[in-house]
Amino acid sequence: MFVRRIAVIGSGYVGLTTGACLASLGHRVVCADVDASKVAQLAAGKVPILEPGLPELVVEGLAAGRLQFVVGAATAVGQGPDAAEVVFLCVPTPMGAGGAADLSAVETVAAEVRSLLPAGCVVVNKSTVPVGTAARTAQLLDRPDVAVVSNPEFLREGSAVEDFLNPDRIVVGCDAQDAAERVAALYARLGAPAVLTDAASAELVKYAANCFLAMKLSYVNAVAELCERVGADVLDVTEGIGYDRRIGQSFLQPGPGWGGSCLPKDTHALLQVCSAADFDFSLLRASMDTNTRQQHRMVDKIREAVGGSLAGQRVGLLGLTFKAGTDDLRDSPALTVAALLATEGADLIGYDPEVPAAVPGMTDDLQVSDDPLKVASGAAALVVLTEWPEFRLLDWGRLAELVERRIVIDTRNLLDADVLRRVGFEVRGVGRRPSQVLTSS
Ligand code: UDX
Repeated sequence: MFVRRIAVIGSGYVGLTTGACLASLGHRVVCADVDASKVAQLAAGKVPILEPGLPELVVEGLAAGRLQFVVGAATAVGQGPDAAEVVFLCVPTPMGAGGAADLSAVETVAAEVRSLLPAGCVVVNKSTVPVGTAARTAQLLDRPDVAVVSNPEFLREGSAVEDFLNPDRIVVGCDAQDAAERVAALYARLGAPAVLTDAASAELVKYAANCFLAMKLSYVNAVAELCERVGADVLDVTEGIGYDRRIGQSFLQPGPGWGGSCLPKDTHALLQVCSAADFDFSLLRASMDTNTRQQHRMVDKIREAVGGSLAGQRVGLLGLTFKAGTDDLRDSPALTVAALLATEGADLIGYDPEVPAAVPGMTDDLQVSDDPLKVASGAAALVVLTEWPEFRLLDWGRLAELVERRIVIDTRNLLDADVLRRVGFEVRGVGRRPSQVLTSS
């Protein structure tokens, strides 16, 4: 079933992926943004974010006339017989004061479109919002003839298109069942199981999923610390537990702590939801504390590697984004570790394949280079912070000649320690057995 017109308000990473993918499923989609220059870029088929497959879908949608970009929510909703039947809200809900989600963008759009929505239209909330936002949006719209539906997204950066088109499930929540069914029908071609529920449950699914993932990662990071203490190897331990289908092999890689635009924000926001509901979710708090501890633990490892004090020590950072496959630096654990190193007086230089040398907003304490050789030059330690596969293929023999001390702290357990050992590096991973040093620098 195709609808006459879907409006997608907000053309950021969620909105743009949603709009382009819905258009690829055959729907007619009009995406809006407040940023006129971004809209002009998108209308010309240029995608400003790094997301595999997205530029192709945008170009295809534009060429087929199924995808359009406009400035402003009102224009996207349209008027008269051509007005949107379904309006997706994909606006940012950043972490506001005290960790609660800031809903001002949702409120602004609701005020802008409320009188324009045709009778029978469905407003769909895709942004991650606190439980109760669908009800609050309905209140703001004050349109009994318009249903508000919660339809959380589960897109990972770097594989958002793949995740959208091959979802594990579609979750749609609304107190009016027919509206929920109409939204679920938009995804019918994807053949995914659909969970139809009330709005509050759908809103909670998103938080419960992301917080579970955060908890899983904190659990793995804690197990990695234990491995180091008892001489076990976390890769073997996680392989061993991952074969249990109830646990699964995915999301079991220890690292420098979890980050990105979702998990930190959503864990904080769920704590706010809990506190409003007078519920102490101590398991969730512990997961967040473990994450902070993990970042500090990486700094301890680096300090120890350079001989006990970071002051004045040159430390080369490989990887700055919050994970590989994205150019996103938001809440990147790499930058948190960098900031902690800087506080202790380390002299920092970093390289990331997706971060330009003069990136705005980078701290004064961190110099970004476009050359991994420069990062190695004179380094008392090299630190892998993002799991970019190309780091495995660096000319480690050349890097060995440039560093001051041949030691790598591999917070992602990415590198082939044998290859590095052959050129004299000592590799210290996370939760791994210590490597043997064959030659010293
Ligand atoms: C996440 C959820 O996965 C997605 O479903 C939701 O819609 C948005 O939030 P994203 O933030 O893109 O997606 O990143 P994700 O791949 O989940 O990684 C989050 C963090 O966990 C990153 O810092 C990543 O490096 C870390 N991570 C992930 C690990 O340290 N180990 C792993 O095994 C997996």
